Amino acid sequence: MPCDVFSSRTLRRMIDNPNGSIIMDVFEYGQTTVGYAAFLTRSGSLTARLYSVVILSRFSGQGLIKEYLQARLAEFAQKGYLRLVLEVRTTNKAAISLYSSLGFSVERRLEGYYADGQDGYRMVKYFR
Ligand SMILES: CC(C)(COP(=O)(O)OP(=O)(O)OC[C@H]1O[C@@H](n2cnc3c(N)ncnc32)[C@H](O)[C@@H]1OP(=O)(O)O)[C@@H](O)C(=O)NCCC(=O)NCCS
Repeated sequence: MPCDVFSSRTLRRMIDNPNGSIIMDVFEYGQTTVGYAAFLTRSGSLTARLYSVVILSRFSGQGLIKEYLQARLAEFAQKGYLRLVLEVRTTNKAAISLYSSLGFSVERRLEGYYADGQDGYRMVKYFR
């Protein structure tokens, strides 16, 4: 993901973009927000982007995000998208393992991609 947390300015810019859409899912447990995921799409493009996904640590490791992403991936495939792309820190072993298990593979390394200088991977999943 390009950033780990949304700023309100970034979110506003995405919502106002006339050429793109943001799909945002918020995960709740009772009255508490425990995570969210955001995808970006652009009009005329067959590539969707997983921009951000996070779940509180006390809910992680239970397969919830994997199940959620499997359902979302099936929807993108059904809508005719060609591929889904994302960026992840090369050090984020849990996320890389999760994405690999969902059929994503590393397309390339992104040197110094993050604001703190860390490298990222561009990962891609093709639907056809
Ligand atoms: C990445 C994140 C969303 C995954 O959520 P999660 O609830 O832990 O994932 P799930 O339990 O649904 O997925 C299970 C799979 O994820 C991977 N995984 C999850 N935690 C892992 C860990 N600690 N170590 C290695 N793999 C891990 C495994 O592939 C696992 O499959 P398995 O149980 O069959 O081995 C969560 O860890 C998180 O919010 N991290 C902080 C934010 C973040 O890094 N977001 C992604 C930015 S690219």
